[in-house]
This record gives sequence, structure tokens and C-alpha cells, in this order.
Amino acid sequence: MQIEGRNYRTVWEENKRLFIINQNDLPFKFSIIELKNISEIIAAIKEMKVRGAPAIGATAALAYAITVEKSPELEATIYSALLAARPTAVDLHNSLKIVQTAFLINHNPLQALTAARDFVERSVAECQAIGKYGEALLKNGSRILTHCNAGALATVDYGTALAPIRFAHSNGKKVFVYVDETRPRLQGARLTAWELAEEGIPHAIIADNAAGYFLRKGDIDLVITGADRIACNGDTANKIGTYTKAVLAHENGVPFYIAAPWSTFDRNLANGSLIPIEERDSLEVLSINGIKLTSGKSPAFNPAFDVTPIRYITGFITPAGIISRKEFARIWEMNI
Ligand code: MRU
Repeated sequence: MQIEGRNYRTVWEENKRLFIINQNDLPFKFSIIELKNISEIIAAIKEMKVRGAPAIGATAALAYAITVEKSPELEATIYSALLAARPTAVDLHNSLKIVQTAFLINHNPLQALTAARDFVERSVAECQAIGKYGEALLKNGSRILTHCNAGALATVDYGTALAPIRFAHSNGKKVFVYVDETRPRLQGARLTAWELAEEGIPHAIIADNAAGYFLRKGDIDLVITGADRIACNGDTANKIGTYTKAVLAHENGVPFYIAAPWSTFDRNLANGSLIPIEERDSLEVLSINGIKLTSGKSPAFNPAFDVTPIRYITGFITPAGIISRKEFARIWEMNI
């Protein structure tokens, strides 16, 4: 992604050192941090300094390879600690499985590092392909609603839901993005809006509650979101509030697309009811940036994700093209 004219990735490895953009500082400060050991890496994932399903998958793969080289005797502990850092995004499972399999062939950490680097490059190429294919859905003048941040910051680069928008914009199409603020952590208002502003893509932030108003008025042509886990039947987990947007889009006859790389597909879960939903600290609902919003006398619930049943999904923007709801089962025949 371009930040002040320079190219950055969200997470990268240099000479076996791991770096991330600290997303908790955005949009007020652009900072890069080095994660020096497994505790710092796990804390960064849990605290969401690095977040977004493909980005945490890539971070975990690189982290595994780098830390297993230093402490091969702790391989199993490192693997399970990374896996447990966040429960909903299946990218974490898929990426760790790949690097662990590579390591266990000869107990050679260099093989794990090669597999992790390959995973990262494949993830970037897949997001580029999502952008290229997804652009076909966008016309000059298209108005798109998106939820949470499924941009470059949620991946290694390019993003998933934002990739088609980036491609359309750079090919000269005039597009406009409605950005759901995405309470409680405001990934839309803080991160998606920041990415779009950095790239000069026209957009406006809306309160989460406003999406139905704009959909009903006919101001939105399509909805594109990312995903954290897509089950065998196509039911899709994504940031809390996605389900609401999908039902509203359906009610108003607006197409609703999910954009995701192969690492977000879960061959092992029959349907969405089996997807584990992360429950985060209630303080995220009761306050913003440490400022209390309530009397302190009320508890809060804070599920971080919800599941959208496939019947509300028009299609999936994948690295192999756009797959409609009816053709969804074809995905499992592909070499993913
Ligand atoms: O809790 P987060 O910020 O990690 O949740 C992220 C999302 O829900 C994204 O939409 C999803 O990971 C897709 S990212 C390309």
C-alpha cells in the first residue's frame, strides 16, 4: 500500500526479523514495530496491533518459522500459542498447518521459513487477483458499502474487499465508498477510511446504524466485505454487524459479495453454526480509547464476529474469479 508515496506491507520479515504496522496507533500515528519474541507476537495479535484474517495468518506463519529456529524444542508450544491467539479467523489454522508440515519433514526451520515466505507471497498474489476479478463488478459511478477493514491493513497487501475498489480507482473509474464505522473497535472509521484517504479514493464514514437508510434510499449499488472463515456450505463469519448488512442488502435488492483469499476457506466445518465466535473484553463496548461511555453500572456483551448464511450472499470474489452462490460448491473442486 502507498503511504506518503512509499510502498509498505502490513507485516513483513527481513533477515528473520518480524515487523508490523501498529494498527492501534492509526489513524493518528503511522508507526512500525518489530516483534522480538513469541510473547510480543502473541500480544500483538491479541491486542490487534496486527489484525484481519489474512494478516494474522501471515504473521503467525512468519512468527512460527522465526521462533522455531531459535527454540526448536518448543515447537508444539509455539504452534498452539499462535493458534489460540484469535479463534475465529481460519487463516491462522491454514497458515500454521502449512509451515508446521514443512518444518516436520526434516525438523528443519529453514524449510518452515521458505514455506512461510511462500505463503506470504501467495497471499499478496491472491489479493491482487481478487482486485482484478472483482473490478468487473464496479462500473464508473458505482457506490459501494463496506464493513470493518478488509483493506491492505487486514492482509499483507491490497486487501480483499478493498482490492476491487483500488483496481477500479487506479483504472480511472469514479467509485464512492460508504465506510461503516464498525463499532466497537472502529476498524472502518479508523483504518478503512485512512487507507482510502491515503489513496485518494472518494468515501464517507457512516454510523453503523445508517447503512439501512442509505440502502433503502437506493444510494448503494453493492456491498463488499471480507471474511474470517467460510464454511463448507458457504456460510461466512466476518466482523460483527456484517450479517445485519447482508439482510438489509437482501431486503433492498442490493447485491452482497464476500471477497476472500483461499486461506479463509475452511474445508473442515460443515456450516456456519460451527464457527467459533470470539468474545472480546466488554470494555471495548463500554469505552472508546479509554474514555468511559456509560455509568459503569451496566455490563456489555462483545461478540467480535457474526455469521452470514449463504442465502444472503450473492457471490464470492476469489483469486480464481467471481463464484456465484449457486456455483459455490465448485470452490471445493479447485486447487485451493
Ligand atoms: O477483528 P478484526 O479486525 O481482525 O476483524 C477483521 C474482519 O472482520 C475483516 O473483515 C476480515 O478479517 C477480512 S480481512 C481481509
